[in-house]
Amino acid sequence: MRIPIIAGNWKMNKTTAEAVTFVQSLKKELGQLSDRLCVICPPFTALLSVAQELKGSGIEWGAQNLFWETEGAFTGEISSRMLKEIGASYCILGHCERRKILKETDEMVHRKVKKALAEGLSPIVCVGERLEEREKGITFDVIKSQVTQDLEGLKKEEVLRCVLAYEPVWAIGTGRNATPLQAQEVHAFIRKLLGEQFGEEAASKVRIQYGGSVKPDNIDELMAEDDVDGALVGGASLDIKSFARIVNFKV
Ligand code: 13P
Repeated sequence: MRIPIIAGNWKMNKTTAEAVTFVQSLKKELGQLSDRLCVICPPFTALLSVAQELKGSGIEWGAQNLFWETEGAFTGEISSRMLKEIGASYCILGHCERRKILKETDEMVHRKVKKALAEGLSPIVCVGERLEEREKGITFDVIKSQVTQDLEGLKKEEVLRCVLAYEPVWAIGTGRNATPLQAQEVHAFIRKLLGEQFGEEAASKVRIQYGGSVKPDNIDELMAEDDVDGALVGGASLDIKSFARIVNFKV
């Protein structure tokens, strides 16, 4: 059985003070979760304070990026070792905003995935097609190319520690979510790819989140799909009531 995983990607939002207030409320809203996992990914500056606030709560946390080298002259970058030292469990990698704005390639994402795994972090690896790619009918080719390159050469044990996130670029921050059927179709395809590349165990155990305009009013129908194992939530994760409702999706 795959334990559903709902993650909040705060992107470049919330000061440390705002983040702490938010997680204090979140702990009260959620209580102890038993059949699902909640992960918060705040900006780097808020990580340590959020980590302290979340101790013992069962809510996990992670970063939104890391660099593939261990240390050295890489101005502005953060290493997996630094994240591990403060207790991070997860790290979002390959988000389409980084691919688009910062020109991150699959080769770069792959190096980051390797580094995260080597340090004991679980990468949340984001893939997804752009609108023009969907319209051209090449969604599956794009997804296959991203998954294959981002996870290239990983051992099965490493893949089992990854979470994949299907985030169609056209659904991010647009209010236009993929329909449950569209999500299911791509999730099933990703699962098939995992099976072909890493074997049945990886296919059946790796969790695949959906991301892109997830809201309280569409989470239940998305989670009802067989291969949707969670959500990576942007805008709606910034509001306590919305996010708590999403984490408390109804099965
Ligand atoms: P929105 O939920 O704001 O569409 O963002 C999704 C996302 O990018 C999560 O990583």
